[in-house]
Amino acid sequence: MAEQRAHWGSKLGFVLAAAGSAVGLGNIWKFPYVTGRNGGGAFVLIYLACVALVGLPVMVAEILLGRASQKSPVGAFRDLSRPRSPWVFFGLLGVAGSFLLLSYYSVVAGWALHYSWLSLSGALVAQGPNGMQPLFQQVYESPLLNLSYHLLFMGLTILVVLGGVAKGLERWSRILMPALFVMMLILLGRAFMLDGFGRGFEFVFGLHTEQLTGRGVLEALGQAFFSLSLGMGAMITYGSYLRREDDIMSAAITISVLDTLIALLAAVVLFPILFSYGMEPAQGPGLVFITIPIALSQMPAGSFLASVFFLLLVFAALTSSISMLEVATSYFIDERSWSRAKATLVSGGAIAAIGIPAALAGGPGFFGAGMTALVGANWFDTVDYLVSNWFLPLGGLGISLFTAWRLDDAIRHDHFLSGSKLAFFYRAWLALLRLVVPFAIVLVLLHAVGVI
Ligand code: TRP
Repeated sequence: MAEQRAHWGSKLGFVLAAAGSAVGLGNIWKFPYVTGRNGGGAFVLIYLACVALVGLPVMVAEILLGRASQKSPVGAFRDLSRPRSPWVFFGLLGVAGSFLLLSYYSVVAGWALHYSWLSLSGALVAQGPNGMQPLFQQVYESPLLNLSYHLLFMGLTILVVLGGVAKGLERWSRILMPALFVMMLILLGRAFMLDGFGRGFEFVFGLHTEQLTGRGVLEALGQAFFSLSLGMGAMITYGSYLRREDDIMSAAITISVLDTLIALLAAVVLFPILFSYGMEPAQGPGLVFITIPIALSQMPAGSFLASVFFLLLVFAALTSSISMLEVATSYFIDERSWSRAKATLVSGGAIAAIGIPAALAGGPGFFGAGMTALVGANWFDTVDYLVSNWFLPLGGLGISLFTAWRLDDAIRHDHFLSGSKLAFFYRAWLALLRLVVPFAIVLVLLHAVGVI
């Protein structure tokens, strides 16, 4: 007999956990740096369109598939169609994606851990503004440092997932997520006082259409999936713990709006700092680790504020990383009948191992300089490109096609309406999911392979 599936304690519990999954390094670390690399303004606009027209409908579809099937991705596709259905491929793609994504996500979270330590010890602020770029470079290149923090962060993630769903984290999120928001507002105040604020703001919101490339559009779509935790079945898994009486549509809107706000806030904080100190927008992955310490190093209580910022960033990364590990874990629990402990330890251990090359990617060895010479990008950048821009959109394509064209109409309708005050969105949602979402994804992918 399968044991009764655990459910979130309340609707707020689900929204907090899903928002915790969505809000993470994708917002504060990645969004600003891909925006910088793609020239600002126009990229941001395309990103917002991707969130509203593609991301939001896919999020509703994922949560709905999870709740309707009470399963994680593979089981959800199978149970809602038939055994050995080809749709199951998309579930497996999600499980594979979760292994790859978490393997390098954990390396970045490791940088945040290291910076928390540097802030707490006072060593960070002591570098002074000019020391921040060299400091990041040194961290980025150090194999041993990256490896240790990657393993430490994976260990933390494994510990939390071992505890099962809806435990302590739900409680902590209630305090720490708003704290992160407040911290971003403080930093916004700091950025506002800099003379580069106007330029930074203009960079994020001014329309620089000439900067936009086809690759930029692909990255905007990939970033929308990444930031909203879509395309991999993470929201299917979380949706499977959602109670029947809760409204999916309003939860998805809340999560998307929160997630987008934090990403925009991060960009509006980082770019003014960057321009005020005469740096290039296309900084790459070090952006947040260079700009925030620069701004705080010249502020009263700078060490304290930097510690708070990086610790909150670690927490945000943790609430995201557990959702990735949960995809892998719930696959082995649901499909292979493993115990939670075994499933967590085996998949977590495997992910830690797969992440080793990512931890070495800044260094001179094969996975770093070697691969850069060979294929033009190190291991870290290559895997990030593949996962964000290929795995996630392809997963999203499968999820939207399945939900829109294959799923039983009664189930779909029923779950959308159940508990919903937003029932009038049903037709618009289905229309987006049937045509706009698949069309947009296919177009962007075809462009990426150079067909159009
Ligand atoms: N959304 C998270 C972030 O922005 C990352 C993330 C967590 C994710 N779970 C996911 C991305 C599942 C894709 C799929 O940091």
